[in-house]
Amino acid sequence: MIPDYNIPMRLTPDEQAMLSGEHGPVVAEAIDYVIQFGEAFGADRLVDITYCHYPAEMAIYEGSVEDVAAYSERGGRVAVPTTTSTLCCDLERPASTGCPAALASLQARAETAHRRMGLLETYTCTPQSLGFIPPFGSYNLLVESSAIIYYNSVLGARTNRGGLLTRYSAVCGKYPLMGYLLDRNRRGTLLFNCDIPADRLRTYDGWSALGFHIGAIAGSAVPVIDGVRTDRQDFLIGLGAALATSGSVSLFHLVGVTPEARTVDEALQRRQPERVYEVTAADLDEVYRRMTTIQPGEPVDFVTLGCPHYNLEQLRVLAGRLAGRHIATGVRLWVTTNRMTKQQAEYSGYVKTIEDSGALVVADCCPVESHLRASTCREHGLPVPNVKALVTDSVKMARYSGDLIGCQTALADFERCLTAAFSGRWQ
Ligand code: F3S
Repeated sequence: MIPDYNIPMRLTPDEQAMLSGEHGPVVAEAIDYVIQFGEAFGADRLVDITYCHYPAEMAIYEGSVEDVAAYSERGGRVAVPTTTSTLCCDLERPASTGCPAALASLQARAETAHRRMGLLETYTCTPQSLGFIPPFGSYNLLVESSAIIYYNSVLGARTNRGGLLTRYSAVCGKYPLMGYLLDRNRRGTLLFNCDIPADRLRTYDGWSALGFHIGAIAGSAVPVIDGVRTDRQDFLIGLGAALATSGSVSLFHLVGVTPEARTVDEALQRRQPERVYEVTAADLDEVYRRMTTIQPGEPVDFVTLGCPHYNLEQLRVLAGRLAGRHIATGVRLWVTTNRMTKQQAEYSGYVKTIEDSGALVVADCCPVESHLRASTCREHGLPVPNVKALVTDSVKMARYSGDLIGCQTALADFERCLTAAFSGRWQ
């Protein structure tokens, strides 16, 4: 049914009070934006939201730092628990990654504004790893495509792509009832029958490649994935991140795993799929072929793990593999995570073990959200990044580093990434 875009929103008394300025002009402005947005999409009422993940103003967009500084000084304060997405540098030690001091100090200005607004300085693409797990069926608003798809699909915590509206929803605690908040829009529409040998999906990169293949077909539809399963949180994060990279998928159903898909029938809400696709190992092979532009035997100068950001267990495993070894001269190995997980890993000795190998544990950001991005260099008059050949186990990182850093890439499993780091060659 086509929504009626001319019906004004029905407001509750507390929403009316906010709009009329009883909670101050900043809240009135925030709810006004949220109402206008909802009316533009035909929503007839607002709902309370439980949690927000906020688009932290990265210093690579200078104007956005000035904007959030002014907004926080005007009195912008969040009304619900709100975490923050990645920055463009590791604020604790920006020089360790070669981040220019001017860029870091601009970024610190945004952090001050975030703190003033009551935002939680998580600076990560995986807030779920930090315990922000809203209940099944709750209403939320997130940014960061890899987080959005995880919350919607794996947790069943409902969210749309928040974008810039996230600030205003966080301040008034409201969002229009629309999009993926509604049962009818959570129905799977495309069915993917997977016939893939189990050994192809024993590592993170396999799930990442599967997501990339399906996302490219699904676009913005809701895919139902049948015939394969995993209960591992890291694999589900990788699958979702990849679905949201080649497509703009915000919700998927993995049959037998995700909570709205105990069966294919349930995922499709007892209707027929609009289309059915068969997926085989050959489709994964094609993703590896597309994402690997480094030729065998060629030098590798950058290896990166932690896209999306690593959790403590992943850092523990990596520390075990790097203990007592050293990566090749001329290779940078970045392992990206959030600052709280890094602190825990420091306490446990994992950071020291990893960094004794010559690798770097980087918090708050990642290679493509940093000064290594070619457009950032141009805007800030910095030298063009000297990354030539990057190896990763994440199809999202492979795709965006190729596009944004402008380097050659290779998609590989965790062990092959380490081999490239130890040898300095793609093998
Ligand atoms: Fe996170 Fe950067 Fe990957 S923001 S999802 S590590 S591209």
